[in-house]
Amino acid sequence: MLHAMQTQQVCRWHILANPDALAQDATAHILQAGEQAIARAGAFHLVLAGGSTPRRIYRALTRSTADWSRWHVWFGDERCLPPADPERNSRMALDAWLDQVPIPPGQIHPIPAELGAVAAAQAYAETLAGRGDFDLVLLGLGEDGHTASLFPGQDWGTGAAAGDVLAVFDAPKPPPERVSLSARRLAAAREVIFLVSGTGKQPAVADWQAGAEIPAAAIAPASGVDILLDFPLPEN
Ligand code: 6PG
Repeated sequence: MLHAMQTQQVCRWHILANPDALAQDATAHILQAGEQAIARAGAFHLVLAGGSTPRRIYRALTRSTADWSRWHVWFGDERCLPPADPERNSRMALDAWLDQVPIPPGQIHPIPAELGAVAAAQAYAETLAGRGDFDLVLLGLGEDGHTASLFPGQDWGTGAAAGDVLAVFDAPKPPPERVSLSARRLAAAREVIFLVSGTGKQPAVADWQAGAEIPAAAIAPASGVDILLDFPLPEN
């Protein structure tokens, strides 16, 4: 499958000493982005990453002070599981952070993935319709170079005509059925930060740096992307 990359991705690599340092750096950046967005536009629209890496960050946000009444929380992807399933990305974020701070419930937008991928993608696209660019998008990186639920060999939604939300089937990372914002919609953001923890991700980072066509490399916001790592860059 060819992925018509819209714009060349600009990467800024940041090496942190360990997972705690990565979490502290990311948390400080998220809080600062929130303050700036609220000062600029009266609201902060943040897209959360799934997987396990962000948990440490979400817990740190729980211990932080912010004008939570102005925060709007979106999800970059979701697994087609019941809402209470501990493997749901929304469940992890709610348990680690969102249930502990006073963000108005109407400003937290889980993907209704329990509806099934097609119905949930349609519903989330309707929820997103007419919304502008996100202020900050958080993303993870899989060992195969996937990000959100955009996987190698599948449609990443990179073209200008790509929809906002994709139904994903046969995902190699369980569960197979998922919902994901498209590469195009994830890049429609003022800032994009990748959170990459654990040396198991080094081969994917090496591929990324070598210019491989991996899903993470398809996220190309105008402002470039910041990639936080807690291991050294591979020797090139
Ligand atoms: C998911 C995530 C996925 C994740 C990466 C990294 O639903 O699994 O959205 O893209 O961010 O696979 O996962 P870890 O942080 O657990 O390594």
